[in-house]
Amino acid sequence: MTLERRELPDAAAIASAAAEEIARAAADAVAARGRFRLVLAGGHTPEALYRLLSSPPWRQRIDWPKVALLFGDERCVPPDDPRSNQRMVRLALLGALAAPPAAYLPMDGAAPDAAARYEGRLRGELGDDPPDLLLLGLGPDGHTASIFPGSPALEERSRWVVAVPPPTTVPPPIPRLTLTPPLLIRARRTLVLATGAEKQAALARALAETGEERETPARLVRRSEGEVSFFFDPAAGRALS
Ligand code: 6PG
Repeated sequence: MTLERRELPDAAAIASAAAEEIARAAADAVAARGRFRLVLAGGHTPEALYRLLSSPPWRQRIDWPKVALLFGDERCVPPDDPRSNQRMVRLALLGALAAPPAAYLPMDGAAPDAAARYEGRLRGELGDDPPDLLLLGLGPDGHTASIFPGSPALEERSRWVVAVPPPTTVPPPIPRLTLTPPLLIRARRTLVLATGAEKQAALARALAETGEERETPARLVRRSEGEVSFFFDPAAGRALS
């Protein structure tokens, strides 16, 4: 695992730098394996990135018909609910692409046995290959994907997707689905995006030499088998040593 810290001036610069990383990873993956598997983060931070990816020049730079879009987590709400990550992705990315991706796998958070069903679809898409690029956000409580402080998901050893009860540390207090460390840590490249002063303490704990995953689940990326980068703005990075 390599861990890069990159402070960028603002959210727009983070989106642009992340788009560049994604375009580069996509070109490498398509050249090597004919397909680019991208795991999308939810929440608000990646929205600007997704809008950038679906606009020129990125819309043309990325070979979308060779891209598989996967999800790192989802809120258990209907797909048109304003809190739905797939709704945000549909509006910010999918709807604006000139050509559909090779595969689009939203999590159907409202379905019964949704975690097992998504895991089956994920295994069908990935086979023995790891995700090429994993996008993650960072909650002010130190969560990432939908793995919250103290979550049993941190100790998961075999399942790739689990259902998560409503978090008590951040809104919205609704059940979620999340990818788990056994899959997350296999990503060839992980990009963690964090902006704003509310992420200061969590980012400092995530990047500290020592700390507990149970307190700061985003520290799980330190177990990654691939390359890890944290992209953050000055407000989020203010508490870094
Ligand atoms: C979710 C996200 C979650 C998010 C962080 C940061 O479903 O909420 O996947 O892990 O990345 O909560 O959210 P913001 O980007 O909105 O601050």
